[in-house]
Amino acid sequence: MELQRVSVIGAGQMGGGIAQVAAQAGYQVVLLDTTEERVQAGLERIGSLLSRSVEKGKLSAEEREAILGRITPTTDLAVAGKDADLVIEAVVEKMEVKAEIFTRLDEYCPSHTILASNTSSLPITEIAAATRRPEQVIGMHFMNPVPVMKLVEVIRGLATSEETFQAVMAAAERMGKTPVEVNDYPGFVSNRILMPMINEAIFAVYEGVATPEAIDEVMKLGMNHPMGPLTLADFIGLDTCLYIMETLYEGFGDSKYRPCPLLRKYVKAGWLGRKSGRGFYSYS
Ligand code: CAA
Ligand code: NAD
Repeated sequence: MELQRVSVIGAGQMGGGIAQVAAQAGYQVVLLDTTEERVQAGLERIGSLLSRSVEKGKLSAEEREAILGRITPTTDLAVAGKDADLVIEAVVEKMEVKAEIFTRLDEYCPSHTILASNTSSLPITEIAAATRRPEQVIGMHFMNPVPVMKLVEVIRGLATSEETFQAVMAAAERMGKTPVEVNDYPGFVSNRILMPMINEAIFAVYEGVATPEAIDEVMKLGMNHPMGPLTLADFIGLDTCLYIMETLYEGFGDSKYRPCPLLRKYVKAGWLGRKSGRGFYSYS
């Protein structure tokens, strides 16, 4: 099945990036968030990233306009669902929020529509169970920043059909990405390996082993990571990091995945990293 219309639910840092790469790939895109302001903020971020590409000579001004012209903003889930061939959900990493959205999408979308989640760690099988079409539900896990990172982890839920899987692999490739197939276990592959490293770096701050700057420098210069783990945690969002650790901890029942108390404290304080202006570092 060749997909033409993609709706993206959530216009935050991931949803905005997904809408951008989908529109760049020629899809007609509907971008939804809870308020007009949030959708507009998402569109403005896309517009300024595209402007940077125009300034660098990587895109013409006409192409920029055409890409933006393919993105329709909305705050109405029924509008986002009604003509979509593929919906990609990228809202907060909370099962209850995602499950409710999937139940409603199942009602609003045509019967052929594929429902994908960009979840970082939550069970695709459980999200699928919130619908009456579990064979058409799948994980499509983009990496941040979406326009730059090549990987899409494609996660098969227990009931995901081969047709759904193949259609989503093809859509990821059309968006210029390299899809990699994985099975449905907490954190999949990417965050099962990445997030315990970030959590351990936070424990190193908590225990006074070194400053955040020193920890990041060790991992950048010593391991050739493009960003140190604490800079990366701030970039991802500390709320998202905490929710992923909670999913790993609950899903495996192993104390090695316990979230660091300092991570919990920062999230409780509203220190969510770059997006709130403060995390392990300050952003002004
Ligand atoms: N959004 C879009 N584009 C961005 C960007 C952003 N936030 N930040 C940088 N870029 C673009 C720049 O415009 C530039 O593009 P061109 O090549 O077209 O000029 C390119 O990326 C390189 O940027 P810079 O030279 O400014 O910076 P850099 O070389 O330091 O690279 C980086 C920036 C790509 C973000 C790099 O630091 C990096 O790879 N960091 C690690 C990212 C990472 O690990 N991501 C995975 C996070 S985990 C995840 O996503 C899964 C999860 O579920 C939590
Ligand atoms: P974000 O906080 O930047 O954006 C989330 C957006 O969802 C916000 O704009 C919010 O208003 C919107 N939203 C919340 N509830 C909604 C609802 N009921 N209906 C519509 N919109 C709603 O978060 P993000 O970093 O973009 O993460 C989104 C998802 O992507 C999460 O599941 C996260 O785990 C996953 N993810 C994040 C990263 C990352 O590095 N941040 C990487 C891969 C996957």
